Amino acid sequence: MIVSLKTILGMAEATNTAVAAFNVTTLSGIRAVIAAAEELNQPVILQFANAAHKGYIPLTEIGPVMMQYADRAKVPVCVHLDHGENLEEIKTALDMGFSGVMYDGSALPYAQNVANTRAAVELAEGYGASVEAEIGSMGREEFASAGGSGEEEAVESCYTDPGQAAQFVKDTGIDALACSFGTVHGIYLKAPKLDIDRVKDIREATGVPVVMHGGSGISDEDFRKCIENGVRKINFYTYAAKYAGDAVKEKLNAESGNVYFHDIAVWGMESMKQTYLDTIRVFSNLK
Ligand code: 13P
Repeated sequence: MIVSLKTILGMAEATNTAVAAFNVTTLSGIRAVIAAAEELNQPVILQFANAAHKGYIPLTEIGPVMMQYADRAKVPVCVHLDHGENLEEIKTALDMGFSGVMYDGSALPYAQNVANTRAAVELAEGYGASVEAEIGSMGREEFASAGGSGEEEAVESCYTDPGQAAQFVKDTGIDALACSFGTVHGIYLKAPKLDIDRVKDIREATGVPVVMHGGSGISDEDFRKCIENGVRKINFYTYAAKYAGDAVKEKLNAESGNVYFHDIAVWGMESMKQTYLDTIRVFSNLK
């Protein structure tokens, strides 16, 4: 069942939990996400980061498949565009039925980010979809898994300012705010140090759900603290993809006979499903 980003974040708000937003790049990944969410009977966000992953599959090819799996799922699913770069890309996603879109103007000057985000909100309204946008910066190497090194440290001078965040939400009318408070996309060089007080201040100042990007690689304890302080959507991908790669490597090393590609896809899917089960349990406060 497909629901809007606003609806799914409302569910997380009501239960004081966070919804997992898993990036997908393959059919195996989509199946792993839906299987994990259905097994635990939890809502989930299926998202595609066209900017980082279009080299693996175009938005227009994976989008309809995401929609089909979400539609048939036994749990609420939001189908979301991650890090939308421009209105054209956002419109393409909305035309396919996506129920949430992110416009990422975080690298632009404030006024330009506001103007473009506002235009995205007006466009999405016509489709009954919701909008996430970003202020502050998490670093530009989006994903290690998309070919960049991704090995970055968070830069405090780029952290989201709570006062500016409140103004941004007022100026744009967005439904969720992606913030920078110590996470980065990709592989962590050293254990990240999160500014949890900043999450609390941003949440209090803006009144909208806070989105954590760069969620994979964060400790369970830090996840819990962030959720207690207002994080309601957690973007998570790189480590799930890496663990699946590790699992495939291990199987290949142990195999002396023929290897068939369809088996590799299933090994990867099983590993991803396990990572997603573990992750959803933490985000949803399940045993
Ligand atoms: P990771 O791949 O580092 O978990 O980040 C995912 C993300 O933030 C997508 O926007």
